[in-house]
Amino acid sequence: MLEYTDKLFILFFMPKVIVFGNQKGGTGKSTLAMHLVVSLLNKGYSVATIDVDARQGTFTRYIENREKTKLQNPSILTPNHTAMFDTVTDSISEMEKSNLDNFITKINELQNYDYIIIDTPGNDNNLSKIAHSFADVIITPMNESFIDLDLLVKIHDLSSNDLKPSTYADMVWNQKKERAIRDRGMIDWIVLVNRMSNIASKNRQELDRVLTALSKRIGFRLAKGFKERVIFRELFLSGLTLLDRDATTSQMSLSHIAARQELNDLLKALNITDKQ
Ligand SMILES: Nc1ncnc2c1ncn2[C@@H]1O[C@H](COP(=O)(O)OP(=O)(O)OP(=O)(O)O)[C@@H](O)[C@H]1O
Ligand SMILES: [Mg+2]
Repeated sequence: MLEYTDKLFILFFMPKVIVFGNQKGGTGKSTLAMHLVVSLLNKGYSVATIDVDARQGTFTRYIENREKTKLQNPSILTPNHTAMFDTVTDSISEMEKSNLDNFITKINELQNYDYIIIDTPGNDNNLSKIAHSFADVIITPMNESFIDLDLLVKIHDLSSNDLKPSTYADMVWNQKKERAIRDRGMIDWIVLVNRMSNIASKNRQELDRVLTALSKRIGFRLAKGFKERVIFRELFLSGLTLLDRDATTSQMSLSHIAARQELNDLLKALNITDKQ
């Protein structure tokens, strides 16, 4: 269990914390985190971002690219960003304590923001666990594959009802307990399929069936997902998102419009409307 220090005065902590997590790499955590950040900024919210995957740094570089584009186009909105690294010490317990202290200091500094959006790595590390335990919402994108599902539940026999939580689901469960002990807060866990193929397949139907059964068993809700769309891969270098008017040089394509609708569906699942 985490050990808290006198720095912990976060009981009255106001921002809503949304963490993107999945111990599987390449599922779209950083891409979707960035799209959520820009959606919130465009709706008038103040947004701080933390990259606890700073060693890889995709989220950080996406935001840096956006800041560069902003020099030419000052109307582009950017969040207040922090890249966080694990503390380097000889002892694991010292490292964990120092990580927790640093994390609490950071979120206390960000008290005045409406939202804190956190991107985490596609593997298990201490800072990522800490970030999960401070979440109000965890969003887990997964690819349309039983390999990804295997990180949520141990799958050997799909026909069996004996579905046991697996690595990542166990971690989320532990961090839900951590949060409940700390401030009696609840974590809303949302799973969605990203990079869905356009072709309806038997694999997809089976995946939907197992995910629906699992949502009750391991305590997440399923949100509508995102299809595989080339535009998501084209925007990183400019730091732009689907929501930026200059995101495409060509006219807005049907795929672009549909992708925006998918993003709106995620905002609905999160109950996010324009700031009053
Ligand atoms: N809906 C989508 N359609 C097409 N490409 C996508 C989509 N979502 C993400 N991608 C692409 O998939 C790749 C992985 O995305 P991303 O880096 O966001 O994943 P990640 O989960 O953050 O990975 P990591 O675990 O390595 O941090 C990137 O090339 C990204 O552009
Ligand atoms: Mg990433």
